[in-house]
Amino acid sequence: MAEIIDGKKIAAQVKEEVRTEVEKLKAAGMKPGLAVVLVGNNPASRVYVSNKEKDCAECGFASYEYALPEETTEEELLELVRKLNDDSTVNGILVQLPLPKQICEQTILHAISPAKDVDAFHPENVGRIMIGDYQFLPCTPAGVIEMLDAMNIDINGKHCVVIGRSNIVGKPMGMLLLHRNGTVTICHSRTKDLAEQTRQADILVAAVGKAGFVTKDMVKPGAVVIDVGMNRNEAGKLVGDVCYDEVAEIASAITPVPGGVGPMTRAILMRNTLTAAKNQLKTK
Ligand code: GUN
Repeated sequence: MAEIIDGKKIAAQVKEEVRTEVEKLKAAGMKPGLAVVLVGNNPASRVYVSNKEKDCAECGFASYEYALPEETTEEELLELVRKLNDDSTVNGILVQLPLPKQICEQTILHAISPAKDVDAFHPENVGRIMIGDYQFLPCTPAGVIEMLDAMNIDINGKHCVVIGRSNIVGKPMGMLLLHRNGTVTICHSRTKDLAEQTRQADILVAAVGKAGFVTKDMVKPGAVVIDVGMNRNEAGKLVGDVCYDEVAEIASAITPVPGGVGPMTRAILMRNTLTAAKNQLKTK
């Protein structure tokens, strides 16, 4: 049976480290803060945003929430982003995705000051990730690396297979694994004989967005399986991309959903907010 990778526990340790550092900034007279912008009524986004507020409170950050109506225009949102860029009490800015269809996500993400871009979605930060000159780490991929480190799972020389090529997870995940000397394969919807690829994985990362996508026959016995999926099944229950019970029988370690990657993503966001605050203090 696989060892369960407890994301909640590892995330709590990361947040505790952040909290200690935030205390120090506060003692020096700073009140670091994160602005979270939510546009519209996406129910999942609402949950994510309220979780981020809880995390901010736990770590000692001020959190500034901006909830805008569904019909907000691109220009109105841009105006808010510009205002937050210029606001010295705001160290990090997160615009929750997805945005309503009248707003171009790229235009908004490009408008966020790279120094406050705690999601690491701005092209400047994406480029930095590519060359390994990090300012901010992308939250979910960095959370995965943090978990592997916490479990003493060596990446060096391992065959790492990532399923999914999104800008948020798949692509940066491949890059971070590569920076840690993994041999990386990124699979996607056009990959031929996917199971043949995934069975090569020593470390398999599923970021597909489909409940139960990864079955036992796709996994090499002894592999480490990381499930980035957050899906609702027919019963409305939160489930990952991996058929947990059957894959746990043969994997050496596996992340549960919930309680795996999700809490780690949130913890890295807090760490990025701390990084932003420290960097801005330095450049004052
Ligand atoms: N929507 C889903 N995941 C994310 C994320 O990591 N950041 C933002 N801003 N929106 C998201």
